[in-house]
Amino acid sequence: MPDRPAVLFVCLGNICRSPLAEAAMRAEASRAGLDLLVDSAGTGHWHVGKAPDRRAQAVAARNGIDISGYRARQVVREDFLHFTHVVALDHDNLARLLALRPAGAGAEVSLLLDHVPGRAGEAVADPYYGEAAGFDTTWADVTAGARGLVARLSGVL
Ligand code: 4NP
Repeated sequence: MPDRPAVLFVCLGNICRSPLAEAAMRAEASRAGLDLLVDSAGTGHWHVGKAPDRRAQAVAARNGIDISGYRARQVVREDFLHFTHVVALDHDNLARLLALRPAGAGAEVSLLLDHVPGRAGEAVADPYYGEAAGFDTTWADVTAGARGLVARLSGVL
C-alpha cells in the first residue's frame, strides 16, 4: 500500500465526472495542505486516451482549473492495490468496481457523495447526454465530495 492517501475517482467514460472529481480533489487538497495522490479512471473503454469532454474542460476552466492535459484510462484490478480509496461517482460504477476488486485488496470503495453529510448513497448524475448546465451541477457535486473527503483524510471529520 502507498505511504500517503491515494484516491482514485471512477465514472463510466473518464471524460466528464471523474476528471472533474480529480480536479476538484487536487484543488481542495492543495488548499488544505494535504499531501495526496489523486487520479481518475473509467469502467468503460470507449474513451481511453481522449482528453476530457469539452463541456467538462469548460466548467473546470470557469473554476480556474485546466484539465485539458488529462487523458482517459480504464480502471484495472491493480488499482485496488495502489490506491487507498477508490471512489465511484454512481451506483452502476460502484457495482462494477466491487465486481472487479480482487479478494483481499485493501482499498476502501465508496460513493463520492457518501463523503458529504446528508447525501450518503446519492449518485453524481451523468451529464453526458444532458444540457450544458448539467456540468455546473456536476462541478458543485464533485466539489462537495472532494471537500468531505479532504476533511476526512485530514482527520477533521
Ligand atoms: P462520464 O460520462 O462517465 O462522467 O465520463 C460519460 C461519458 C461517455 C459516455 C457516458 C458517460 N458514453 O456513453 O460514451
